[in-house]
Amino acid sequence: VQQITDELLDAMLPKGRADLVDSFAYPLPLTVICELLGVPDIDRVAFRALSNAIVAPSEGDDDIAAFEGLAAYLDELIEDKRCTAPADDLLSALIRTRAEDGDRLSHGELRAMAFILLVAGHETTVNLITTGVHTLLAHPDQLAALRADMTLLDATVEELLRFEGPVHTATYRYAAEPMEIGGRSIAVGDPVMIGLDAANRDAVHLTDPHRFDIHRAPRGHLSFGHGIHYCLGAPLARLEARVALRSLLERCPDLALDGPPGDWLPGMLMRGLRSLPVRW
Ligand code: HEM
Repeated sequence: VQQITDELLDAMLPKGRADLVDSFAYPLPLTVICELLGVPDIDRVAFRALSNAIVAPSEGDDDIAAFEGLAAYLDELIEDKRCTAPADDLLSALIRTRAEDGDRLSHGELRAMAFILLVAGHETTVNLITTGVHTLLAHPDQLAALRADMTLLDATVEELLRFEGPVHTATYRYAAEPMEIGGRSIAVGDPVMIGLDAANRDAVHLTDPHRFDIHRAPRGHLSFGHGIHYCLGAPLARLEARVALRSLLERCPDLALDGPPGDWLPGMLMRGLRSLPVRW
């Protein structure tokens, strides 16, 4: 992660200004997850378009076409990997599991696993890095406190996850028993949409929840979900965010906004900015 971060910064810093999303926050987690899975020279522009369409709110049949496009890409990739010498990567390991114990992981499951790791593996972390930098630049006192004491970095990442969690809502849950929440009756089988970001600003649990404060005593947050489906990639995402923020802040002591940030992503799934112009 550090090596990829350094290479991206080496390429970006001589320019003096850049869109942080394009030059840094997007390629970092994508490169990491591709190396981990063993996805070769992925066509990043095409992949980003497909992946963005999948997590964006549905407009006509665009997202179906994107799902099919990515599924076809993954089928080809799995076939290629099956035919070439086994490599030391996660996708090859999953393929071996399937070959050795075929009834454990069907082709569909293998493809679905590659799919969620690739998409979940970067659509989220790009937003944590981007909104993280945006939030810090918008709170100069907090940024100065962090710069003065980098041991606050882990707590800062947790507060950024709480304050601007990259995932607004969890996947639907369905009530297994009747219950009442906040004065509403929920019947068996009702779909329940869980607002993770809203829970993270619950005034019952936090004092002054709309204040960004890296000195907050950790109370936990729901940004990686909860329970059996708790995010598989949480340790990786935290690692990437810590390395990215530390390296960027250390190498750009005068980092500043270079114009208004781009639009917030549409829809109720992802919280993130389309672009973030910065200079240094
Ligand atoms: C800041 C970055 C990330 C955030 C905020 C995030 C958030 C989440 C959330 C909220 C869930 C639970 C969804 C639910 O319960 O309905 C989840 C699940 C998951 N995440 Fe992440 N994620 C991040 C990074 C990653 C990364 C880097 C990977 C892969 C390496 C990853 C892989 C997964 C997988 C596979 C699941 C499904 C787990 C299951 O259903 O058992 N995530 N993530």
